[in-house]
Amino acid sequence: MVIAGTGSCLPATVLSNRDLERMVDTSDEWITTRTGISTRRIAGQGDTTSRLAVEAGQRALLMAGWGPDDLDMIVTATITPDMTMPSAACLVQQALGAGRAFAFDLNAACAGFVYALAVAERFVRQQPHLRALVLGAETLSGRVNWQDRGTCVLFGDGAGACVVTGSDNGHGLLATRLYSDGRLWSLLSMHGAPSRNPALASPDNDGSYIRMQGREVFRYAVRAMEQAAVAVLADAGLDLGQIDLVIPHQANVRIVASLAERLGLPLEKFYLNIDKYGNTSAASIPIALDEAVREGRIRRGDAVLLCAFGGGFTWGAAVVRW
Ligand code: UT7
Repeated sequence: MVIAGTGSCLPATVLSNRDLERMVDTSDEWITTRTGISTRRIAGQGDTTSRLAVEAGQRALLMAGWGPDDLDMIVTATITPDMTMPSAACLVQQALGAGRAFAFDLNAACAGFVYALAVAERFVRQQPHLRALVLGAETLSGRVNWQDRGTCVLFGDGAGACVVTGSDNGHGLLATRLYSDGRLWSLLSMHGAPSRNPALASPDNDGSYIRMQGREVFRYAVRAMEQAAVAVLADAGLDLGQIDLVIPHQANVRIVASLAERLGLPLEKFYLNIDKYGNTSAASIPIALDEAVREGRIRRGDAVLLCAFGGGFTWGAAVVRW
């Protein structure tokens, strides 16, 4: 399965660490040194998850030279769909005018985009002419407790997209590995129903907020992503030295640095944009992938490793020959 185009969309509003200093008991120094985050984007009025996804999808379609009518499938990885029903993917289908596509959402938290790529690859393997739009899109700013400094400084909004189809020339997705451990669900969770229903978004609806035991999640994330990366490279028949660029989930620059150390790779091989966008959950990998492609950090023939970790717990990795 080849990636024929990428796209991303970030809301215009920028929230800086200095802004957060005025909202909770935190400091630019703490956030920067502990996480690597300087700013994050926050959805404005009308910036729903599906709207950001539509714009990211349109950019990916444009890069591929495809129209919405070319799409057979739309899958949106998200934990913040506009509504519980219909799926964000169906709203994207409507807005794009992708009348031929079937559409559904997938919840694997921050690992969602890697899961969605793996799912699309199974469809494409069965039907090589199938054309799919694979999205990661989130508006977590509506789901954080803006009084909890342990979480509100971390997350941001945005969407990223890939359009994919079959390929037989050795380029594209070489391997994927997916894992979950539901026993650890309570370390990172969001109980409330996802919805743009204002009643559910009210500040005293404590159940709708994201909750995290950060230190435990941190430790597990590093080990899990290392495990997934090693396994997926073996599946792809590559060793670490053959990887040109790693696109990790952007949760914390220290997690990425620890992962780099355990894998024995220099940090320069890891694409990082967490300083600008924070943790955008399922959107973080496709946004980073799109920026890396547009900046020329990824060239034809490069081997790119994606690895992600999120609530569930869920984690996984993928290798792409560009
Ligand atoms: O995307 C899904 C997966 N998510 C992740 O991978 C996130 C993983 N976890 C992390 O990235 C980190 O654990 C955090 C960034 C969430 C926290 O960093 P940490 O180095 O693990 O800090 P900590 O939670 O151990 O807290 C250290 C101290 C505490 O104070 P005391 O108890 O030592 O006095 C916290 O209360 O830092 C305090 N603290 C803060 N101080 C200023 C926590 N948040 C803040 C804050 N500003 N925003």
